[in-house]
Amino acid sequence: MSVLGRGSVFAVAFAAVLGVGMVASAQQAAPADVIAARQQAMKALGGEMKAIGDGAKAGSLTKADATARAARIGEVANQMGSWFPAGTGPDSGIKTAALPAIWEKPADYKTAIGEFRAAAAKLVAAAETGDNAAIQAAHGDVGKSCGGCHRPFRQRN
Ligand code: HEC
Repeated sequence: MSVLGRGSVFAVAFAAVLGVGMVASAQQAAPADVIAARQQAMKALGGEMKAIGDGAKAGSLTKADATARAARIGEVANQMGSWFPAGTGPDSGIKTAALPAIWEKPADYKTAIGEFRAAAAKLVAAAETGDNAAIQAAHGDVGKSCGGCHRPFRQRN
């Protein structure tokens, strides 16, 4: 399965960390590389979220910036299902905050990704309207969907 879309900074980061081409499969990569790549991509995702949130709050977010960042979040939402292949959990022996529940409760995990995808799609639509209040509301819902997955599936520090 090809997991890395074209033109995404996340895909580029993911591919760069994995040291593979844009058509590589996370399933074929070493667990340590997959874990490092997804952690880096999650961090970038956090950066996009913060930039939209801060910019919208300050009233300084341009429509171009909002649409570009929302589009990248939307791409990540579509890719995330492939970031946790079997063998990249805590029993890999590699440091990861991914909880075994991801693989033990795949249906729940899929639901969490689905909620993120739906919220991200709404953020993309809100960004395209250029309406600051709509962007803030959609951004808040995306944030909730991040937490909706982190609570059951990510280990707290
Ligand atoms: C479907 C589940 C899921 C969704 C949705 C999700 N995350 Fe995560 N996130 C995880 C898991 C699991 C980890 C732990 C990854 C690891 O350590 O291997 C993580 C880790 C992180 C990290 C820490 C990365 C590091 O430095 O190790 C950040 C930051 C983060 N997520 C931000 C976000 C943001 C922001 C969103 C929403 C826009 C989001 N995540 C949505 C599951 C999710």
